[in-house]
Amino acid sequence: MANTILVGAQWGDEGKGKIIDVLTEQADIVVRTQGGNNAGHTVFIGEKKYVLHLIPSGILRKSKKCVIGNGVVVDPVSLVGEIEGLRKLKIHVDGNLFLSETAHLVFPYHRELDEQREILKGKNKIGTTKRGIGPAYGDKAARTGLRVIDLIHPERFKEKLQFKIKENNEILKAFGAKPLSFRKVHDEYRAAGDYLKSFVTNTVVLLHQACRRGDSILFEGAQGTFLDIDHGTYPFVTSSNTTAGGACTGSGVAPHLMDTVLGVMKAYTTRVGEGPLPTESAEIADMLHAMGREFGSTTGRARRCGWFDSVATRHAQMVNGIDELAVTNVDGLDSLDVIRVCIGYRVGSTKYDYVPNDIEAFQQCVPVYAEFPGWKTETHKVRQWKKLPANCRSYLRAIAELTDAKLSIVSVGPSRAQTIFL
Ligand code: GDP
Ligand code: IMO
Ligand code: MG
Repeated sequence: MANTILVGAQWGDEGKGKIIDVLTEQADIVVRTQGGNNAGHTVFIGEKKYVLHLIPSGILRKSKKCVIGNGVVVDPVSLVGEIEGLRKLKIHVDGNLFLSETAHLVFPYHRELDEQREILKGKNKIGTTKRGIGPAYGDKAARTGLRVIDLIHPERFKEKLQFKIKENNEILKAFGAKPLSFRKVHDEYRAAGDYLKSFVTNTVVLLHQACRRGDSILFEGAQGTFLDIDHGTYPFVTSSNTTAGGACTGSGVAPHLMDTVLGVMKAYTTRVGEGPLPTESAEIADMLHAMGREFGSTTGRARRCGWFDSVATRHAQMVNGIDELAVTNVDGLDSLDVIRVCIGYRVGSTKYDYVPNDIEAFQQCVPVYAEFPGWKTETHKVRQWKKLPANCRSYLRAIAELTDAKLSIVSVGPSRAQTIFL
């Protein structure tokens, strides 16, 4: 397999974890390059469900290397918990998991600030995962963050943390929130530092050597295109570049070494948190929630649901350079008589065939729909493209064509076997 960047083409939770797990079979290394434990990537192996937050989903396949790259923000205590969880399930993590020295750290004051800012925003809140992601990337950009390399140097860590706790306690006091105890945070984080030390390495050099050997690298995107800090529905976004360029900056692997961009999208649309979602539909949400589907993997929140939005996915194709598509959750539409697909937006008499940059215009966009006949047949047992119902194939061909990329993978269920390659 060539070096592949896998991105979410919608608002996150497209089923990236499942597709990564399937594709890891052909890869040597899987790398996370952005985001933090706001991500929740679900993988089923048999009946067993795994939800990965910081560790690449590739970890579930023995003998594959997994890298947490420099662009990720790492809550070290949460990472220790995740490693412990995997160890309990007898998943091998020694010698195959690598943590970048230069990844930034998430601290309790980031989480607290995340929460306080959301409270202050009231009805204008973003609906964050409250994992401290925004404030941690804020410190990184302000050049006041602490990194993994600091965590494993006790004296340096102590000095830097003392300053940060002092600074942030002043801010927390202004919010009327409880100040943090330096000693408590220090001891907890130092213990995590000792635990993680053996995983810490120069991942840029590691990946460079892997490229020279000709290893295949799979870049595991977190979140989705419309949560990108630059290209998403700002300010209702996360704080990293979730689009394909983030894979380069977040790993140190140069752009010319990337071969393919694979976009993962659901056969419909979902979003967790606030912000515009033009095709949102109570009909689709009620149907999916009644099936027990579309509840968040990280926060358990019910996801907002809507029809497939091809204006959005075409935009995703443009900003990511998506070559190939994986369409997941096709089985979610099995029972519908008629399936709608958004092919344009309208605000009054103004028509848009692209996603407007003005968030207020985007909020007002009314979708223009095309309708497709449903297939009214269960698809979860289908394993070959030609065995899918004809209406289902037509629908999938149409949404790939509207997105302007080649359909390569179709997923009809959460397990590895429920994957059709074209
Ligand atoms: P990610 O964040 O992109 O990895 O996606 P999540 O794991 O947060 O959410 C996707 C959900 O859809 C998970 O519960 C997956 O197990 C599930 N899933 C993925 N592909 C399929 C599919 O084709 N059919 C069904 N029924 N579930 C799927
Ligand atoms: P995966 O990788 C879906 C959303 C939050 C919120 C916004 C900002 O599983 O697809 P943050 O905590 O990042 O500051 O929240 O982004 N969000 C996600 N939505 N999937 C995710 O990750 C998400 N990570 C963040 O709900 O709207
Ligand atoms: Mg998810």
